[in-house]
Amino acid sequence: MKRFLPYLRYLRGHRTYLVLALICGAISGLVFGGGLPWVTRKVFPYIFTAGPRTLPAAAVVGYSLLLPLIFFIRALTGFLNNYLMSRCGIGVLEAIRVELYRKLQHLPLSYFGKNRTGDLLSRLTADTQVVQQTITSSASDMVIQPLTLVGAIIFLIFTALRYDGVLMFLGSLAIIPVCVLPVRYVGKKLLRRADENQRLLGDISDLASQNLQAAREVRAFGLEEQEVSTFQRTTRRLFQVQMKVVKYSQILSPSIEVIASLGIAFSLYYAYYAGISLAVFMSILTALFACYEPIKKLGALHGQFTRGTASLNRIEEVLREPISITDPAQPVALPARLRGDLAFHGVDFSYLPGEPVLRGVSVAIPAGTVCALVGPSGAGKTTFANLVPRFYEATAGRVTVDGHDVRALRLADLRSRIAIVSQDPVLFNDTIYQNLLLGRPAATRAEVLAAAVDAHADDFIRTLPNGYDTMVGERGSLLSGGQKQRLALARAFLRNAPILILDEATSALDSQSEQLIQEALRKLVVGKTVLIIAHRFSTIRDASLILVFDQGRIVATGDHAALYASNHLYQSLYDRQHGAA
Ligand SMILES: Nc1ncnc2c1ncn2[C@@H]1O[C@H](COP(=O)(O)OP(=O)(O)OP(=O)(O)O)[C@@H](O)[C@H]1O
Ligand SMILES: [Mg+2]
Repeated sequence: MKRFLPYLRYLRGHRTYLVLALICGAISGLVFGGGLPWVTRKVFPYIFTAGPRTLPAAAVVGYSLLLPLIFFIRALTGFLNNYLMSRCGIGVLEAIRVELYRKLQHLPLSYFGKNRTGDLLSRLTADTQVVQQTITSSASDMVIQPLTLVGAIIFLIFTALRYDGVLMFLGSLAIIPVCVLPVRYVGKKLLRRADENQRLLGDISDLASQNLQAAREVRAFGLEEQEVSTFQRTTRRLFQVQMKVVKYSQILSPSIEVIASLGIAFSLYYAYYAGISLAVFMSILTALFACYEPIKKLGALHGQFTRGTASLNRIEEVLREPISITDPAQPVALPARLRGDLAFHGVDFSYLPGEPVLRGVSVAIPAGTVCALVGPSGAGKTTFANLVPRFYEATAGRVTVDGHDVRALRLADLRSRIAIVSQDPVLFNDTIYQNLLLGRPAATRAEVLAAAVDAHADDFIRTLPNGYDTMVGERGSLLSGGQKQRLALARAFLRNAPILILDEATSALDSQSEQLIQEALRKLVVGKTVLIIAHRFSTIRDASLILVFDQGRIVATGDHAALYASNHLYQSLYDRQHGAA
């Protein structure tokens, strides 16, 4: 319960509703807890009298209607309380959901290496759902039930004082603390299970998302049954944990009922010897019922809150994660046109502590240089390129752009001056036009078309059934590899950024596609500082500067002729590619 308090700040916009809800809840609770026993005591003596029936018919009707009146007031205010509280609760949750999503947009890329997508997805959907259930189901009970209890206790106190039933009152009430014991015991058990439950849901979501992304590989390697049995093992574990959650959350109400009935037994015993009238006894019984009902409900509520807490913890884990890569407090203002000088000064980097991937990397890449990165697989080429847009942060040393440390620049300023064409370009499930527009959202239609022409993409786009308005499918799945790459190049043309990072596709394209892309590339790199992770000797030869990477270090720099003559690693890499071609 306490855990939910910090989130009350989200209620700011809902204050009026909250106040109305509380007033309605108070009326509902008090009317039922105090009003119902009172009506019982008032009306019963008139109705169940031993003497002759002397009451006028109107009075009998009036007395009989008191009961429905109370239930009507309770129903109306109860509904309003529930409705308004839920409105506030769901509103708060909407805010939390959006905050969580916003957080996911800003967390550094390293976070997604450490956390599984499916699990994060499950926090965003399943866990927020549980918290929402907690809020809506508790919304109705949180105010009404305690106040019903208060109303009933007030009635019992008055009755006890008036009818000398103090002992009976105390005796019956003594049961209440006893009722709290199972609530506490079960709550502890429940928290562990609820947490495990949500973690397993995360696992399942993760399994499923990985499986769905690898639909082709599953069929190619004949993994269908193996995948199903892995999934089944996890769902079986979930079944067991869920049954425990059901057991612990459902065992509360019945146990409280049994304990409470002991209180009633005690009142019966006492009433017999104290000679209490049926009307008074009935009213006390109603009041006791009005006491135990809230306790039972509050017990269930406790269970719900426990489950909600487990989910809230998982949501907060993400919300509390520090964003390590952020804008500096006082960013350096960049001029509209950047020169594009790049430099690395003694840069170390590791993805995992103790496993350096780049060591002491120092190099200056003057503006306008086409710089090729070559080296064996895993040497650190992609990692090197990732440090420029600050996707990751150097563990030591500095990366500078036009002499400014990248950490001194606003992230948006830095990244808007870099165009990236990755090995496996990702497109959003939208039209081709919209995907191209991402390169520069302010571009006109004519500029978008011109970029597509430059990237040799225009021809194939026009043959598609809806031309530029064709949907590309999830991640661009409706297009071929070569087509996706040309769209990615068109985006880079449109962006026209002074710094260009190209991770050449390793997959072989047909020679015509290949040629079109090479032509587009040659045009694209003009006048830009280019980092190109080159897998083809044709691109490498055109570069004015070549950096040879090996095991996280730059082991040689120079142009093709010089390196080929002097560097053994470069020579063998080049010869191998040449041979392959
Ligand atoms: N997200 C990551 N988390 C942990 N380790 C990583 C991550 N990405 C890369 N590595 C490791 O860092 C090292 C360098 O990887 P990098 O991707 O920079 O190599 P590369 O030179 O681009 O190779 P390739 O030519 O195969 O693309 C490798 O040993 C790799 O295992
Ligand atoms: Mg790479």
